[in-house]
Amino acid sequence: MQALKLKVAEKSDLIERIGKTVAVQGQEIALFLLEDGTVRAVQNRCPHKGGSLSEGMVSGDHVFCPLHDWKISLCDGVVQAPDTGCIKAYEVTIEGNDIFVTL
Ligand code: FES
Repeated sequence: MQALKLKVAEKSDLIERIGKTVAVQGQEIALFLLEDGTVRAVQNRCPHKGGSLSEGMVSGDHVFCPLHDWKISLCDGVVQAPDTGCIKAYEVTIEGNDIFVTL
């Protein structure tokens, strides 16, 4: 399947370290603006029991699931030890104020 690059939000919609949920093509994506100005996009569903990661606490480039505190990388979606698993991390492109995610 060919990659699809879609505008999902504007950077000015985001608040630093506060997640925002967007629904794109039936996929729920959590967007995050990190302290260093980077925007990250990951699947908004914790691989443990489905916690909504957009409601999690952000520290550096990780998010802590609001349900049971699993720590997940916002760069590659990998769950940090001692827990294991992975979520989808999307490629993000910024053009001006527009945020695009590649599905
Ligand atoms: S649902 Fe995310 S840690 Fe349990």
